[in-house]
This record gives sequence, structure tokens and C-alpha cells, in this order.
Amino acid sequence: MEQTYIMIKPDAVQRGLIGEIVARIEKRGLKISAMRMNLMSEESAKEHYREHAEKPFFKSLIDYVTSGPSVSMVVEGKDAIAIMRAVNGATDPVNATPGTIRGDFAIETGRNVVHASDSPESASREISIHFKDAEIINYTKIDEVCLYE
Ligand code: RTP
Ligand code: MG
Repeated sequence: MEQTYIMIKPDAVQRGLIGEIVARIEKRGLKISAMRMNLMSEESAKEHYREHAEKPFFKSLIDYVTSGPSVSMVVEGKDAIAIMRAVNGATDPVNATPGTIRGDFAIETGRNVVHASDSPESASREISIHFKDAEIINYTKIDEVCLYE
């Protein structure tokens, strides 16, 4: 099983979309192994998005994700990283297919509602920024016998 780091960004929290987004993850069959709401620190945000440190949008990105409470999750399942990238949709909501989270709920790249790790290396790096090992729960969900061959 693969783990990925998901953030429901502050715009989505303000717009009352937490439940909608969590429901989509659950209905898809993925398992939530950790979940917390917090105000992300500037230090964590800069570490999380360090690949973008030299980009012109870096400061506005850090201001955005630290502007209010966000919801952090570890989401687990077979191919969870690729599945969650597809569930979220394209970075620029203009290109996001209807039916994806960004394709249904977002207009602009700078307010695109959700984050998901883009590779196994990013996932393990991001999970370790936002969660302690003890906060990630290893458990079996009863629907796994139906979801997996
Ligand atoms: P994320 O990391 O948030 O899941 O988004 P992503 O992989 O789809 O896109 P990425 O290239 O990693 O960009 C990270 C976030 O930075 C903001 N952004 N703004 N103004 C711009 O050109 C621009 N480009 C990216 C977005 O909030 C994007 O999700
Ligand atoms: Mg990214």
C-alpha cells in the first residue's frame, strides 16, 4: 500500500468544502490514516513547497497556505499517489476536468483548493514534515476485502 500527503487548503476550509473533499476520498475507497486541522506554520509551508522557492509565485503561495486553517491528511491505498493526483485534477483549474475536485470547485491556480504529493519521494518527505509517526494509524478497514483482488 502507498501513502500520500493531502492538504485541504485554506480557501477550501473557508468555503465549507472539507466534507465534500473528504467524502470524495472516502468514496473512492482510499483510507485516511491521519487527519488534522491546523494553521500551517510559515516554516512548514516553506519546507513543504521548497521546490518552488525560486519561483515568482513562491511568496504568494506561502501566504496562501498559511492564511488560515487547513486540513492535513495521510491517505493510503494501492496507487494512492496517482489516484489522488487524478482526483484533484490539473494544477490550473481551467484545465481541470469536470468531476475532479479542482474541475468542480476552483477557478484560479492560486486558489486551487487541494494539494496531493506528486511522487513517492515527495509523499514520504511531505508526510514527515506534517505528521509524527505516532499520528499515523495503521488499521484495516472492512471494505478492503471488496476493494482489492
Ligand atoms: P500542489 O503541489 O499544491 O498539489 O499543486 P500541483 O502539484 O498541482 O502544482 P505545483 O506545480 O506543485 O504548484 C504548487 C502550487 O503553487 C501554486 N501555483 N501558482 N501562479 C502560478 O503560476 C502558480 N503555479 C503554481 C498553486 O497553488 C499550486 O497548487
Ligand atoms: Mg505540487
